[in-house]
Amino acid sequence: MVELKSTAEIEGIRTAGRFVAEVLASVRQRAAVGVTLRELDAHAHAMITAAGARSVYLGYHPSFGAIPYPGVLCTSVNDAALHGLPSDHVLADGDLLSIDFAAEVGGWVADSAVSFQVGTPDPRSARLIEVTERALRAGIAAARPGGRMGDISAAIGAVGRGAGLGVNADFGGHGVGRTMHEEPHVPNLGTAGRGIKLRTGLVIAIEPWFMDGGDDYVVDDDGWTIRSADGSRAAHAEHTVAITARGPVVLTAPARPVATGTGGGATAD
Ligand code: MF3
Ligand code: CO
Repeated sequence: MVELKSTAEIEGIRTAGRFVAEVLASVRQRAAVGVTLRELDAHAHAMITAAGARSVYLGYHPSFGAIPYPGVLCTSVNDAALHGLPSDHVLADGDLLSIDFAAEVGGWVADSAVSFQVGTPDPRSARLIEVTERALRAGIAAARPGGRMGDISAAIGAVGRGAGLGVNADFGGHGVGRTMHEEPHVPNLGTAGRGIKLRTGLVIAIEPWFMDGGDDYVVDDDGWTIRSADGSRAAHAEHTVAITARGPVVLTAPARPVATGTGGGATAD
């Protein structure tokens, strides 16, 4: 069943979303050459504890996982696209890291992911990340009352395909609320005008992930880590978004403008 949220409930998810954004920004700041994925996970875990929040990843055990999820972050490096376990991998110059994080604050969950390069960036990975972020923006722009789920899926898929990237419809977005994974599913490929009607009060995670090669993926023996089948790099970007009468509202945006030193005045919404 697809559950619609009230304005007050959406504000609850926004509170969780601000915390999720804060943790992602802090983890990103710490991600540098020589740092391990486990250290990043421990840092996020400490922030959860300090905030009185709750991890929705730790111990999560869907049927495909060989073990319950062992961390609070997904840390996917280079050819890993999704669900990379926080291991002792030491971040190396040029690594492409995707961090996916969801947490519960005050009974509401928000879910977001970001991809970036560590150390010296390479232009090809920069383009992969840029296209993935553009697909996320296109998906968000299509999240309007009166539209259909296929509008979001088609917008995401068109950006990935248009850039010649590998796109796979498995592991797309999802409803978010009291729990991390609710109905409906938000596929990363689809046909505009098809699928369920988008209504005011629908809150969904939109999460394109693309590969810099073919469309196929493989799964590690742990049942978790999703990698490109051809070893190409992958990127992932995700926001939790509310569909409102005034259009899409990103609930996992930072609470304050990010200090850039240039006096930019951008706000969260
Ligand atoms: N946050 C991911 C998603 O966007 C799921 C993470 S799976 C977990 O759907 F096991 F790590 F929790
Ligand atoms: Co998600």
